[in-house]
Amino acid sequence: MHYSLDRFEAHIRDGLLAAGVPAELIEIVAPKPNIPADLAFPTFRAARALGVAPPALAQRLADGFVVGGGSLIGAVHAAGPFLNFSLDQARLTATVLDEVTRLGGTYGHDDAGAGEVIVVDYSAPNIAKRMHVGHIRSTIIGQSVVNILRAYGCRVIGDNHLGDWGKQFGAIIAAVMHYGEPAEHGEAALAAFEELYTRYSALIKHDRELRDEAERWRRRLEEGDAEALERRDWISALVAQAAEPNHDDQARAWSLRLERGDPQARALWQRTIDLTIEVNDRLYRRLGVRIDHAYGESFYEPMLAAVIDEALAKGVAYRDDAGAVVVDELEPNLPTFLLQRSDGGTLYMTRDVATIQFRVRQMQPTRIVYVLGIPQELHLRQLFALVRAVGYATDIELVHVKFGTVFDQHGQALSTRRGNMVYLEPLLDEAHARALAVVRQSSGELDPAEQEEIAEAVGIGAVIYNDLYQDPRRDIRLDWDRMLALDGNSAPYIQYMVARCRSIVRRAAAEPGAVADISQLTHPSELAVIKQLARLPRAVREAAQRYAPFVIAEWCYDTARALSALYRDCPVLRAEQPELRSARLQLVAATAQALTNGLALLCIRAPQRM
Ligand code: ARG
Repeated sequence: MHYSLDRFEAHIRDGLLAAGVPAELIEIVAPKPNIPADLAFPTFRAARALGVAPPALAQRLADGFVVGGGSLIGAVHAAGPFLNFSLDQARLTATVLDEVTRLGGTYGHDDAGAGEVIVVDYSAPNIAKRMHVGHIRSTIIGQSVVNILRAYGCRVIGDNHLGDWGKQFGAIIAAVMHYGEPAEHGEAALAAFEELYTRYSALIKHDRELRDEAERWRRRLEEGDAEALERRDWISALVAQAAEPNHDDQARAWSLRLERGDPQARALWQRTIDLTIEVNDRLYRRLGVRIDHAYGESFYEPMLAAVIDEALAKGVAYRDDAGAVVVDELEPNLPTFLLQRSDGGTLYMTRDVATIQFRVRQMQPTRIVYVLGIPQELHLRQLFALVRAVGYATDIELVHVKFGTVFDQHGQALSTRRGNMVYLEPLLDEAHARALAVVRQSSGELDPAEQEEIAEAVGIGAVIYNDLYQDPRRDIRLDWDRMLALDGNSAPYIQYMVARCRSIVRRAAAEPGAVADISQLTHPSELAVIKQLARLPRAVREAAQRYAPFVIAEWCYDTARALSALYRDCPVLRAEQPELRSARLQLVAATAQALTNGLALLCIRAPQRM
C-alpha cells in the first residue's frame, strides 16, 4: 500500500535521484522534534562520496531541487548538513482525508506482509484450571499481535496450545473419582477442580509421610530398639497400612489408563476439557479474542515416539543408563534437558517439538511466534535449538514475544500463596462494575441497558490497554484509578475522545451543512491532527515488524491528545464559516474512524456514546 507519507518520501527520493544523488547514498530520516520539517536527508555520506562539504551539498541540492506537479513536498530547505523537507499541507490534508474516507475500517492496513504465513501460539491455558495472569497477558498481547500482523497483510494462524496432557491429569481423575465431580459453573467450576486437585495432593503427601514413618519404625525394630520392640503389633499394622495401594498409585494408574485410551478415563478427561474451553470461551468473547485452532498438547501424543526416535537417530539426543532420553550441550550455556523420563513418560518439551514438526508440515509457516512470559525463555531457547539441530525448522523464523509480570495496586507480585492472585472472570467483572460507576457519572442520561454496554466496552478496554500500552517486557500494575482515568493514558480517555467526535458528527447531521472547504484547515492544531492520521499506516508497519501493540497504543494516545487540542482551539459546530465547519466535521469524522481502527487492533471497542 502507498499512503500519503509513502508518496511524500518517494517524491523526495525521486527529486534526489534527479539531482544526481546515487540511490545507495539516499537515506531519509525523521528530523528531531524541534526542527520545523517533516523529513530530512542528512548529506554526510553523499558529501563524502562526492568530495564536498555537507553544508555545501545541502545548499546546492536545495537550490536546484525540482518539485514535481502534484507533489506532497511543500518546501525544501538546507539547514547545515541537512536537507529538510516540509509537507504541502493543503495536499496532505486532501490526500489523508480522501484515504481515510475511501478505506474506512481498513485505513492503516497494508499488504507489505503478503506472502508471510505466521503461526501465533498464544493464550494456552491449562485444563481444569483457571487462567492465571500469565495466560491473561498471553491472551491479550497474542490477540493484538495477531490483529496487527493480519492488518500488515500476513496470513496468520492462531493456535491455542492447551495444557491438556501430562502426569497431573491422573491425579485430577483420581481426585474426581474420590470426591465426585464439581457442580459449579463458570470459572468457579475450574476453581473447584483446582481445589480437588489440591486436596488430593494433600492425601498423596499424607500417604508419603505415613510410609516414611512406617519405614522409620520398621528400621528401629530391625535394630532391636526397645521402644519399637514394645510396640511391635502397632508397627506391623502401620507397615501393612503403608504398603496398601495409596492415592499416588491411583493417580499413576489413572494417568496410565488415560494414555491407553480407557473409556472411563477418556470420558472424564474430555468433559474436563469441554468445561474448561466453555468457561474460557466466554471470557475470550468478552475480550474480543478468537483463536483459530486449539489442538492442545494431547493431540501430539501419537507423534512423540517418532520425534524421540528421530532425535536419537540424528545423534542430537542419547539414552542414558537409566533409560531417559537426554539432550546435552546443544549450544554453549544451554542447560541439559530431557525428551523422555526414565519411566518412559514424555514431557512438555517433547510435545512442543512435535508441535513444531506438525505445524511445519501442516501449515508451512514462514514464522512461528510464541507469546509467552519471560519465565519460559529458557524452555523456548532449548526448544528452538533442538528443532534446529534435528532439522525441523531450518528456514523458519522462531520468535519469542516475551512479557513481564503483573503486580497489584500496591506493587506486590500476585501469588496464590499470598492470596492476591487475580483471575480473569472477577477481573473483568470488577472492571465492568468500576466502569459502570464512571459511565453513570459521565452519561447518566443514557438508558441503563446502553450504560451496561458502554461499561463493558470501557471496563474491558481499560484492562486490555493496561496490558498493551507499554513494552510487553515491562511489568504491569493493576491500578484501577489509572486504568480508568478519563484524563490520562488510558483506554477510557481514548474511547471518550472518539465518542466526542461521534456526538459532534451526530449533532451536525441533524441540519444541512455547506460544502466543505478543506483548504481552510490551516490552524496548527488541525494540521497536527491531520499529520497524526497520516502516521497510522507507519505505526501499523512498525507494530507488525516489532510485534509491538504499544506502538499502536502510543499512536492512539497521541491522536487523542491532538484531538483534544483541536477541540480546545477550533470550534467545530460553531466554526466561523459554514465551509470551515463542514471541513472540520470531515476531519473529526476521519479522526473517529482512524482511532476506531487503531483501537480495533488492540481489541478495544469504541462506543458510540459515553
Ligand atoms: N500451557 C502452558 C503454560 O501454562 C503454556 C504453553 C505455551 N505454548 C507452548 N507452545 N509451549 O505454561
